[in-house]
Amino acid sequence: MAQEELFHPPKDLVENSNIKAFMDKHGIADLDALLEKAQDHDWYWGEQARELEWFKPWDKVLDDSKAPFFKWFTGGKFNIVHNCLDRHMKTDVKDKIAYIYESEPGEVERWTYEQLHKEVNKFANALKKLGVKKGDRVTLFMPMIPQNPVAMLACAKIGAVHSVVFSGFSAGSLRDRLLDADSKVLITADGAYRRGKVVPLKHNADAAMAEAPCCKHCIVFKRAGNEVPMTEGRDVWWHDLVEGASDECEPEPMDSEDMLYMLYTSGTTGKPKGIVHVHGGYAVGTYSTLKFVFDLKPDDVYWCAADIGWVTGHSYIVYAPLMNGATSILYEGAPNWPEPDRLWQIIAREKATILYTSPTAIRMFMRFGEDYPKKHDLSSLRLLGSVGEPINPEAWRWYRENIGGGKLQIMDTWWQTETGNFMISPLPITPLKAGSATRPLPGIKADVVTQDGQPAKPGENGLGVLLKPWPAMLRTIYGDPDRYVQTYWSRFPGKYLMGDSVMKDSDGYFWFRGRVDEVLNVAGHRLGTAEVESALVAHRDVAEAAVIGVPHPVKGDVPKAYVTLKVGVEKTDALKDELKKWVGDQIGKIAQPDSIEFRDKLPKTRSGKIMRRLLKAEALGQDVGDTSTLEE
Ligand code: WTA
Repeated sequence: MAQEELFHPPKDLVENSNIKAFMDKHGIADLDALLEKAQDHDWYWGEQARELEWFKPWDKVLDDSKAPFFKWFTGGKFNIVHNCLDRHMKTDVKDKIAYIYESEPGEVERWTYEQLHKEVNKFANALKKLGVKKGDRVTLFMPMIPQNPVAMLACAKIGAVHSVVFSGFSAGSLRDRLLDADSKVLITADGAYRRGKVVPLKHNADAAMAEAPCCKHCIVFKRAGNEVPMTEGRDVWWHDLVEGASDECEPEPMDSEDMLYMLYTSGTTGKPKGIVHVHGGYAVGTYSTLKFVFDLKPDDVYWCAADIGWVTGHSYIVYAPLMNGATSILYEGAPNWPEPDRLWQIIAREKATILYTSPTAIRMFMRFGEDYPKKHDLSSLRLLGSVGEPINPEAWRWYRENIGGGKLQIMDTWWQTETGNFMISPLPITPLKAGSATRPLPGIKADVVTQDGQPAKPGENGLGVLLKPWPAMLRTIYGDPDRYVQTYWSRFPGKYLMGDSVMKDSDGYFWFRGRVDEVLNVAGHRLGTAEVESALVAHRDVAEAAVIGVPHPVKGDVPKAYVTLKVGVEKTDALKDELKKWVGDQIGKIAQPDSIEFRDKLPKTRSGKIMRRLLKAEALGQDVGDTSTLEE
C-alpha cells in the first residue's frame, strides 16, 4: 500500500493554509517536525487554547492524576457559547452570516451572528423562566432548522446540559434517553419535513413523555403547522415562551471541566452510552481541528452536510464553525429530494467552498451518475471532506473527479462521538492516498496493536489505539464511569481502544477497516467486512454493498454480501458469480462471498451507516431488535 499513488496538495493550498501559517510562526519546517513538536501537549494545546477567550486562564493544561479520568485546562473559567457568539459582537463577524439555512420545501434564511446571538439570548432567558438551572439536563428532539442550534447554544450559555436525540428516533428510544439523562425539559417541534412528508415529532415526544415522568416541561417550536395536542401545564409553544424575553443574557462562567453535553451512541450492548463532553477542552479541540483541517478563511462558505443529531453536527455544524466565525450552510431535508442534485444546486447558488459529507452519500450520488453534478457549476469548491466510515478508493476517486473537478484534496477525517474532534486526518499540507485517513493530527498519538497489545507490523491489520489523552476526549459515560473504564481503557492499560480494525502502512498512513465487531475470522484469517465491501463497490455494476459474517461449520465465519446494483443493471446469477470471482481477484479467495443477494435498498441509519446488524439478524433468523434509527 505504501507504494500507492500519492495525491500531492497544490502549492497554493499549502502556502496559504492556516497550518502553514502556524508552522511558520513557530519555525517548524515540515509535517513530521510539527507532529513531533506537538507531542508536547502543554505547548501545543496551550497555543490553541490561547486563541479562545477565557474568563480566567487555566492553571494546568492536563491533569492526569486520576487517569483515565483526565482533566484539561483545570482552574480555567470558560463558556463555549461566549466564544461562539458573544466575543464576535466586538468584531466584524457580528454582521457576517452564521447560517445560510435552506428548508426542504426551499425557503432560504440568512442568519447573521448578531441575530443568532439575540435569538440564543432570548431563548436562554426563556429557559431560565421555566426554572432551568446550571447542570440541569435538557433533551432536544428537533428538525434540522436554525432553532436546533439556538436551543443547544441557549442551554450551554446558562450552564444547562443538552442531550440531543436524533429526530429519526422512535418514541421508545427517546423515552429511554429522557430517563437515563433524568431530563427535566424536552424541546421539540410540531413536525419536521422529510422527503416532502411531515414527520410528527411532537406526537412521538408525547408518547415518550407519557413514560418519562422526570420531564416536566415541553417546549414546542411551530415548524410544519400540523395539528398537535398541547398538555396544559406541561407544554408551551416556543413563540409564547420567548415573547417579551430580553435579548441580553450573560454567559454562565463555567469551570473548564463542567459538562457541556451528553450524546448517546451505540456500543456493543443494546443500552446506548451517554457520552459526556465538557466546555473547555472540547472547545479547544473542535475549534483548532476545524481551523486546520478545513483551513477556514473569513470568506469561506462551509457546508458540513451531516445531521445535528450526531456528533459531526454537534462539533462541526454548531460549535467549531461558530467559534471560527465561519459561514455555514444548514439544510433541513434529504440530499436527493426532490432530485439527486439538491446538494449541487445549493453549492452552485451559494458558491460553497468546502463540502464535508459521508462515503455513503458519495456512493449514493455515484449511483445516480455524473450527469447530476455536471449540470451545476461546482467550481467554487476548494476542499472536500469525508467522515463516518472508511471511504473505498473507488468512491474517493469519483468524489475527487466529479465533485472536486479532478483536483481537490479530500480530508478523510477519522474520529468518533467519543473523541469529540478529528483525530486521524489529512491537513491541507498532507499528501493523500485514496482511501486512507492518513496520519494522526498534531497533538494526537495513535497506533495499531495486535490482539495481545504488541505494536502491529506495517501492513498488518490490528486494533487501533490512542496513546495519549486529548482535550476534546469524552470524560465518562453518563452515570456509568465503570463502563467508561471497561469499554475504552481496560483491554490494554494506558491505551484508549478505538474499537476499529486498522492497518498502518510503511509510510505510517492509517487504513481503517471498519469496527472490530464487523471483522470476520474466515478460516483463521482476519477480514474486515469493509474490505469486501470496498472490493464489491469497485466493480462497475455495483452501487453499494454490505457484508456480514455468517457462521460456517469449517471456516468459522464466511462473508455474505448484500449488493445494490447501479440503475439499469440486470440482476442475474451470472453477475453473482462474476462478483464472487471479482472479490476473489481483488483481495484473495478467502474474501469471496459465500453468497450474494441483490437488494434495491440497504437498511441504513439516517447518518448513513449501513445497519449490518439488521442484515445479520435477518440472515440468522433472529429478532431484528430496535429499528427506530432506520432511514426507511
Ligand atoms: C467510523 C462519527 C473510517 C469508525 C464521527 C469509528 C470512520 C466510528 C471514519 C465512529 C473515517 C468515522 N474512516 N472510519 N474517516 N470516521 N469512522 O461515533 O468505525 O458516529 O469508530 O462518529 O465511525 O462513529 P461515530
